[in-house]
Amino acid sequence: MADLVLKRLDAQFASPIILASGPAGFGVELAPALDLPRIGAITTKTITIEPRTGNDQPRLVDCPSGALNSIGLENPGIDAFARLAHSQMRELPLRRILSLAATSPGEMETLAVKAAKLSGFDAIELNLSCPNIGGKITGADASAVREYVRAAVGVTSIPVLVKLPGDTGNLLNSSESALSVGAAGLTLINSVRGLRIDWTTGRPFLSRTYGGLSGPAILPVSLARVFEARSAFPEAVIIGTGGVSDLGSAIEMLMAGADFIGIGFGLMVDPELPQKLAVELDKWLDEREMVSVQEIIGLAHSGGFDVH
Ligand SMILES: Cc1cc2nc3c(=O)[nH]c(=O)nc-3n(C[C@H](O)[C@H](O)[C@H](O)COP(=O)(O)O)c2cc1C
Repeated sequence: MADLVLKRLDAQFASPIILASGPAGFGVELAPALDLPRIGAITTKTITIEPRTGNDQPRLVDCPSGALNSIGLENPGIDAFARLAHSQMRELPLRRILSLAATSPGEMETLAVKAAKLSGFDAIELNLSCPNIGGKITGADASAVREYVRAAVGVTSIPVLVKLPGDTGNLLNSSESALSVGAAGLTLINSVRGLRIDWTTGRPFLSRTYGGLSGPAILPVSLARVFEARSAFPEAVIIGTGGVSDLGSAIEMLMAGADFIGIGFGLMVDPELPQKLAVELDKWLDEREMVSVQEIIGLAHSGGFDVH
């Protein structure tokens, strides 16, 4: 058996497969369908300081090779999460990443102080890239990124990751800002702003008109972002998220330079996808007599395999 274990962020992860923020909720409902010990980590649905009911329905529509959503960060707020879901989540036998979003650096600091009191998390992921809450996308503004990251890093000792947009702003400038003030890594990318119109009525499908596109349709976008970020920041931990739906796309993401592969939409199509990917990846590496998944991370930057 090849070794899928990765040591990153001061912890050991069972595999590079990570449940991306959103579709997995807090993992509790999904747990019976999942082979949790094979999964590297779960990222919580993004949590805010106050509860949010999210956007009005309709807020999800099918697309060729994906879906457009405008959920709008529906969540119970950090205090209710701490009271209700946190203890159940802490029992799940896998590593956990806490996703947070705030409307100002000050609010992020308050949120991160509360988050730091919750045990059982291996990293905090700052969602600076939600396309569905109106206003500017923080992750597109490198100086704002610096302030949000500084606010969180200053009040917690666990590693801070930053989730950035793939379709707006200058990704490398935002990444540089985040890493320069102490972020341990990058999660690339969030869903990509899109629109669908019901051509029988002439109206946009979603209540908020625009939504975020997820699924195989965005794979080339996420691969490009991961590839360029890995070239620029060889030491940063990168969770490559966007469009991974099968073994081939998971391997592509690793070869582009991702340490971890985030699975969002793929989980909505097949809740067993994460463990299938772990099993298939293991087998694929074995067949090629590779001892560790480490051997293919970033391979596309070094000329690929030697072909004899
Ligand atoms: C229904 C749904 C809800 C999501 N909610 C969040 C969220 O709360 N926070 C976040 O950072 N990303 C959220 N995302 C984005 C995903 O984590 C991921 O970045 C994006 O969908 C691209 O990956 P994918 O193609 O594997 O889905 C959501 C995605 C979907 C489909």
